[in-house]
Amino acid sequence: MYRQAYYNEDFLIDYNTNNDYYLDDVEDDYPDYIKREKLKLPDVRSVDVSRHFTRLSEMNYSVDLGMYPLGSCTMKFNPKYSDYIASIEEFNKHPLEGEENTQGNLEIMYNLQEYLKTISGMAYSSLQPSAGAHGEFTGILIIRKYFEMKNELDRRNEIIIPDSAHGTNPASASMGGFAVIEIPSDESGLVDIDALKAAVSDHTAAFMITNPNTLGIFDDKIKEISEIIHNNGSLLYYDGANLNAVLGITTPGKMGFDIVHFNLHKTFATPHGGGGPGSGPVAVKSFLKEFLPVPIISMENGQYKLDYRLKNTVGKISSYYGSFSVLLRAYSYILKNGNNLKNSTEKAVLNANYMADKLSKYYKIPYKKLKKHEFVLSTENTGKRALDISKFILDYGIHSPTTYFPLIVKEAMMLEPTESVTKKDIDYYISVMVKALSTDSDIIKKSPVNTSVTRIDEIKVARDLILTWNKNEKTLNKI
Ligand SMILES: Cc1ncc(COP(=O)(O)O)c(C=O)c1O
Repeated sequence: MYRQAYYNEDFLIDYNTNNDYYLDDVEDDYPDYIKREKLKLPDVRSVDVSRHFTRLSEMNYSVDLGMYPLGSCTMKFNPKYSDYIASIEEFNKHPLEGEENTQGNLEIMYNLQEYLKTISGMAYSSLQPSAGAHGEFTGILIIRKYFEMKNELDRRNEIIIPDSAHGTNPASASMGGFAVIEIPSDESGLVDIDALKAAVSDHTAAFMITNPNTLGIFDDKIKEISEIIHNNGSLLYYDGANLNAVLGITTPGKMGFDIVHFNLHKTFATPHGGGGPGSGPVAVKSFLKEFLPVPIISMENGQYKLDYRLKNTVGKISSYYGSFSVLLRAYSYILKNGNNLKNSTEKAVLNANYMADKLSKYYKIPYKKLKKHEFVLSTENTGKRALDISKFILDYGIHSPTTYFPLIVKEAMMLEPTESVTKKDIDYYISVMVKALSTDSDIIKKSPVNTSVTRIDEIKVARDLILTWNKNEKTLNKI
């Protein structure tokens, strides 16, 4: 059973009351926000500090603690060597250091650009964007600029997106000023070719998809899709969030895509959660190079440099270097795995299919095609809600899958075990998922009970937003 972490009440009392310090030396003319107030600083033993914060850290759940099969979000265990490398002091340069003092960092970025080109089958890349969604938005800006230069932007004002897409796709397209045309999936969960043909028109700027899609299914009609799109003079955009399903096996370039974003934090070695930090480089075919965000890293006469010379660049979209520590982790992961990246892909796909096959005896798994690195099940046939099962399994020391996504599956749970779990982990997970089905509904609806935070009122949480602190009344403010 999952160990329940607890607060040390004595420690908190000591922490809050033991000592009063004054800011005697604060100048009178300091602005208002620096006040002469009593400061309550703790006077406690270092062992208590250490135990307190260790306890707090154990109240959380992480990829270091157990399986975290959050489909689409790719929460795999990230090797500690990547963290170690990212923490090496020598890499920690001030962002305004000149190129002459940052040649090592620039060399790593240059090499990473080259690796990403090979991995994606594209001709050029920029490491600037700071997340997957940011990469998408950058890709959309590239599409805009491309059609602007061709004087076609006035009429090419639509982006087509399948209904299985991640929510960030339509959001990015819309933020980039395009109308979003959603098309339905066919009965096997893939792009409905007839619906695509019907949607493509003079207005189409691009078609934006991820392959495999969010059902974990690879669209083997991708060449045909590419032809339909390119024959119309439109562009094909690859959401690379699911790249870890094809890494080392095929490339978006071979599939016919023109623009790709990577989620380095998912595919390589940084946990994807808690809002970042992330990195979402963009790579393009050669005819789109001039639109990439700047700077890209180039090498001339043996010197690496931040290169701002792209003629029709969409501009600068991140401060300084982008997320350098994430770039470093991704670089170390690629170097360490070398030509064996395919090995991770195969393990991720095998794990997902093993799990899907076992669970299919208990849960409905819609869309029968072979899965890649993730799959979606529905609890519709079980009489239990996906939300309740997600909460129940937390009591057994495991993290829930993504719940209620993708929207095209009712009572959906989306599982992505990743390559970093063992058969023992998966079997345990399956046993808890099966146990949920024979557990009394009343128990399930009250769970979790063994976690630091127990069942929360989902409706109150959504409707009663309390996000700020009322200093005078010493309470949280309602919105
Ligand atoms: C399919 C897909 N596309 C795009 C994104 C957006 O990536 P990010 O969260 O890095 O912005 C995600 C995130 O999980 C995703 O799963």
